[in-house]
Amino acid sequence: MPRRGIITIDGPAGSGKSTVGRLLAQRLGYLYMDTGAMYRALAWKALHMGIALEDSEALTRLAEVSRITLSGDPDHVRVAIDGRDVTEAIRSPEISRAASLIATIEGVRRAIVAAQREMGRDGGVVLEGRDTGTVVFPDADVKFFLDARPEVRARRRLEQERAQGRDVSFEETLRETLERDHRDQERSASPLRRAEEAIYLDSSEMSIEQVVEYMLEIIRQRLSEETSSRSVHS
Ligand code: DC
Repeated sequence: MPRRGIITIDGPAGSGKSTVGRLLAQRLGYLYMDTGAMYRALAWKALHMGIALEDSEALTRLAEVSRITLSGDPDHVRVAIDGRDVTEAIRSPEISRAASLIATIEGVRRAIVAAQREMGRDGGVVLEGRDTGTVVFPDADVKFFLDARPEVRARRRLEQERAQGRDVSFEETLRETLERDHRDQERSASPLRRAEEAIYLDSSEMSIEQVVEYMLEIIRQRLSEETSSRSVHS
């Protein structure tokens, strides 16, 4: 049996990371860690407490004292901060924007990354986000960088928003997508970038199922190669 590894998927908003990450975790029987949900939960608490999103010191302290948990199976992950369930509340456009702002603060990232390492340290985990293969687990077993064209990502976001009953235009969603890309890529603290060894996949013309199958194939191959090379050497 291959051992239980650490799989990372990084990429821009709307590239399909969450859907793919969830499905992979399900098929592998792994824990699914939506790292963006943790920045979102913290942003929710900051807004709730009236903390200014530019106040790096207060936000760093907030990140250090807050307890963010992800629970449930990959298909029904519940997100809580200090025991309060915020699963639905963190999916609004307001929180998307606030999360991308607070994620630029170094102290906030330090605290959240420490919590993520703790949660994933025993392996058997699929993480998805912006820095999971570059910063959180640079020694991950398999790293993916999932991408898609901005128009495709904005279209997917729009469908999600509309499914949740929010009436937004395509132009507005595209503008927000590009704005977020810019912030996530240009910030000095752990910007979104592709790890050299990450496998690059553009999902614009692929179905979710195709992406998942392709990734599973690579993961199984890598993990069983590692297992057999270890048993040869031991
Ligand atoms: O993946 P998402 O849209 O839920 O992420 C929300 C914000 O959190 C995103 O704009 C950038 C930030 N984020 C991050 O900086 N690092 C991660 N590993 C995950 C998300």
